[in-house]
Amino acid sequence: MHRILLLNGPNLNMLGRREPERYGSETLDAVVARCSELADALGAELDAFQSNHEGALVDRIHAAADDGTTAIVINAGAYTHTSIALRDALAAVPLPYYEVHISNVHARESFRHASLIAAGAAGVLVGLGTDGYLLALRAACGQT
Ligand code: DQA
Repeated sequence: MHRILLLNGPNLNMLGRREPERYGSETLDAVVARCSELADALGAELDAFQSNHEGALVDRIHAAADDGTTAIVINAGAYTHTSIALRDALAAVPLPYYEVHISNVHARESFRHASLIAAGAAGVLVGLGTDGYLLALRAACGQT
């Protein structure tokens, strides 16, 4: 049984209201609902967690090592570009992870071009809108 942890970092709680021309009008709750539906269809379990706090994300990643999680789908938001702590947390747990970005970070400011977590990822989905989460979920369930 696949058990996927869907992790969202800072400002992603504002999805739907935050720069909708860039990130779309779908709320995070709606994204999570779509992911839960897909997880059901794939016979997987989904646990969603969002935090604006780096340490809370680190703690949740550590907990995933012992709670039956089989893979992580993560949009770390701006921490993608800054957080060695998140990179180390993902390296500390023996779980594959898929990095998602709603926008095409490579077409944006140069500080968004670098990801501190991409090198360890099983896959990276960038610029596909919120559908990127669903594609990552499929990959995390071995359904690509
Ligand atoms: C983002 C891209 C990041 O650069 C930004 O800080 C975000 C959202 C995305 O999903 O496109 O918060 O991760």
